[in-house]
Amino acid sequence: MNRERDDPDAALADADAVGDAAWSELVDTLIASRRSFAPRRIGDPGPDADQLGRLFAAAAAAPDHGQLLPWRFVIVPADKRERLAEVFAQSLLDRDPAASPQDVQLARAKAHNCPLVMLAIARFGEPDAEVSNLERVVSLGAAIQNLLLAAHGMGLAGGLAGGRALRSHHLRELFGLASDEHPVCFVLVGTALGREPSRPRPTRDAFVSEL
Ligand SMILES: Cc1cc2nc3c(=O)[nH]c(=O)nc-3n(C[C@H](O)[C@H](O)[C@H](O)COP(=O)(O)O)c2cc1C
Repeated sequence: MNRERDDPDAALADADAVGDAAWSELVDTLIASRRSFAPRRIGDPGPDADQLGRLFAAAAAAPDHGQLLPWRFVIVPADKRERLAEVFAQSLLDRDPAASPQDVQLARAKAHNCPLVMLAIARFGEPDAEVSNLERVVSLGAAIQNLLLAAHGMGLAGGLAGGRALRSHHLRELFGLASDEHPVCFVLVGTALGREPSRPRPTRDAFVSEL
């Protein structure tokens, strides 16, 4: 496939050119074979500059009602991981002042997992009668899933990490979040260290009904 990556019309022309069945099978396979990787199973190397550009192009293709761009990602480079480690340690100690040095060390170590660590942030911005905050979070979720699928398509491993440190004021301060910005999760990408078992997917009866 040869197209200008940033030209959505060129991408559409490619989509038209691809035989329907082959295209659809490829997409089904990509989606069905994606796994979430635990941070400890995501190692070096991370995406190179070209791959990183493609990951963000995938994110930018997410549905976005009103084109509000209600989210952003902040990369945590290697030389800032110690500051993230400090946030994890401090937020643990805020919750549990009696946490053992080993637990604090484990919390710190999480900041050093994975070659690419990004914070995914929902931006609520100006209230809009048409576009609720829920819609904005859905847009972020779609951006994250696009990014994870693109990473998987490149043979990279991706995963998400939530947790209580995301609700800590230390994290808000480190990332300089505005009052209408909400950290949702970390997005992690790198190279698979081993295999992740597949998760049983719910059957459609579990989540589809008819009005
Ligand atoms: C926003 C978000 C944050 C998540 N954070 C964690 C996490 O911190 N730890 C974890 O084990 N799973 C977490 N998960 C779940 C995994 O990412 C994953 O979806 C789940 O394990 C199912 O695996 P699968 O994606 O391979 O089906 C999170 C999921 C979402 C949507």
